[in-house]
Amino acid sequence: MKLCGHRGVAALAPENTLAGLRAADALGLKWVEIDVQLSRDDEVVLIHDATVNRCSNGRGRVRELTWPELARLDAGGWFGAEFAGEPLPRLADYLSLAGTLGMSVNIELKMNPGADPERLSRRVSKVVNEQLMPAGALLFSSFAPACLAHLRQLAPAITRGLLVERLPPDWHAQLLRLGCVALHCNQRYLTQRQARAVKAAGFLLHCYTVNDPDRMRTLDHWGVDMVFTDDPRGYHAG
Ligand code: G3P
Ligand code: MG
Repeated sequence: MKLCGHRGVAALAPENTLAGLRAADALGLKWVEIDVQLSRDDEVVLIHDATVNRCSNGRGRVRELTWPELARLDAGGWFGAEFAGEPLPRLADYLSLAGTLGMSVNIELKMNPGADPERLSRRVSKVVNEQLMPAGALLFSSFAPACLAHLRQLAPAITRGLLVERLPPDWHAQLLRLGCVALHCNQRYLTQRQARAVKAAGFLLHCYTVNDPDRMRTLDHWGVDMVFTDDPRGYHAG
């Protein structure tokens, strides 16, 4: 079972930052997951929440701030003094470093209130299509089926995963309709029976967010392909 650093490696470095990517690499992780949104002026930036309040020294809605305003924020000091001055990154800069490090990236398109799925998908696809990263080193995911449908048209070479909390009754039909290769679900609600069904249908099964090594071993036993974790240090494959 693969481990994917959640928001970089969120227990050890400020989430969705270049420092987090470097920390994940230093721990030997090959995959990281990040959240992306659009600034007011259509820059694709890494941030989870609808506002910058929790993860920076600024205040306000991401979609109401311009890239020059976001670029001035400290996105690391809130996490620890040693990360003070860490910038809030653009997707382009993040992928550039990931490519240099040989890391693979799951890009989660976040549809916070007011976001336009087509606009976000277009901008993300443009950034990704301008990168030199191999398609196999990227994976898209979203809770918004509309984003996945747009991405299928805009960047067909990059595989997609549908994000859900609990498996909906029509999960199989949704995956087929959206051309997804993977189902990403909350591990808390997953049963072994559901895991078996997803695997038997030929899809990858990825679970968030798993920080307990015992739970990781159980999910591995169930056939889960990858888990998103804030802290991979307690789990050793094999
Ligand atoms: O992509 C998996 C996981 O990140 C989804 O939840 O809220 O942490 O983005 P969240
Ligand atoms: Mg996420």
